Amino acid sequence: MEARSAILGVGSHVPGKVVTNDDLAKLMTTSDEWIFQRSGIKERRYIEEDGVGASDLAVPASERALAAAGVKKEEIDAIIFATLSPDYTFPGSGCLLGHKLGLPGVPALDIRNQCSGFIYGLSIADAWIRTGMYRNVLLVGSEVHSTGLDFSDRGRDVAVLFGDGAGAAVIGRSRDGNAGVLSVALHADGSAAQDLWLEAPGSKYIPRITKEMLDEGRHYPKMKGKQVFRWATDKMPAVAHEVLGKAGLGIKDVDWFVPHQANQRINQLVGWRLEIDEEKVVHNIEKYGNTTAATIPMALDVAIADGRITPGKTVLLAAFGAGFTWAGAVVRF
Ligand code: UT7
Repeated sequence: MEARSAILGVGSHVPGKVVTNDDLAKLMTTSDEWIFQRSGIKERRYIEEDGVGASDLAVPASERALAAAGVKKEEIDAIIFATLSPDYTFPGSGCLLGHKLGLPGVPALDIRNQCSGFIYGLSIADAWIRTGMYRNVLLVGSEVHSTGLDFSDRGRDVAVLFGDGAGAAVIGRSRDGNAGVLSVALHADGSAAQDLWLEAPGSKYIPRITKEMLDEGRHYPKMKGKQVFRWATDKMPAVAHEVLGKAGLGIKDVDWFVPHQANQRINQLVGWRLEIDEEKVVHNIEKYGNTTAATIPMALDVAIADGRITPGKTVLLAAFGAGFTWAGAVVRF
């Protein structure tokens, strides 16, 4: 019989340096009022020193997830590492994480699905476990944004939104008949790739990066905020309905909704469109900003730690991000 997969344990880690909106206002023309009103963000975390990459933040997050799952690291059969800010262009951060955890030979797959990365990874882990290929998969979302943001006025619309952090989950065979990944759906549409992207260095350019490109700031992320906002508030409710339908459930069956944390205003509008009680929507964006692939496991970790998500609870996940990509899942804990 096909095995069902479940989230067995979750962990997270953020670096120690707290950066408030007022701190950013010293670097660029912005204000706590503008940032909080538009995004719901009050502060975010940045790495404290040179030399700390996405794979480093992932180590304590992974160790916490393993402890929470009661799974020994030697029992991990595969690593999936979701990030848009890998330590290096290559090799992938998953290989680095496997080495740092002491898991030689364990396969490591890096995926590049930005804010939807955790749910894309969940879908892969779920398929591997269902088919019996692997028993326990370590799924990580980890990002170091702070080293790649434009802190001048030119980049202020993007720079204020992002933070560093890592979240991890151990996905394994469901230990009871109840818990499990009930449904997943993934989508992408590259027609709007340039509405949210980091262009250079790019392999299509000879050379990949030039002084002119650096002067023009083409090595920084760029976003057409209003377009992204419109797409996100359209696609996240749609994919939420899709995964609930696949699971044979309705919005009334959802105990907790854990959306990607890009903007509190987006999530309020998505929640309103889904007609879900505001109290059932988990958010931590005020403290961490947007940590892209890490937002969902970080938010799950908070809601598990404070006793909101307990065994038997049905949790709806939805994300939207660069690509564009969007994805949803229904998970019973
Ligand atoms: O996870 C990745 C997905 N990303 C998202 O989902 C983000 C989606 N988009 C958004 O969340 C919003 O579009 C933003 C929060 C990024 C921006 O909000 P907005 O209401 O769309 O603002 P805007 O870009 O239209 O800018 C309004 C004004 C502009 O000034 P003018 O032209 O009206 O004079 C901007 O130059 O605000 C200005 N502005 C700022 N002011 C102070 C832009 N960034 C800042 C800033 N501080 N940091």
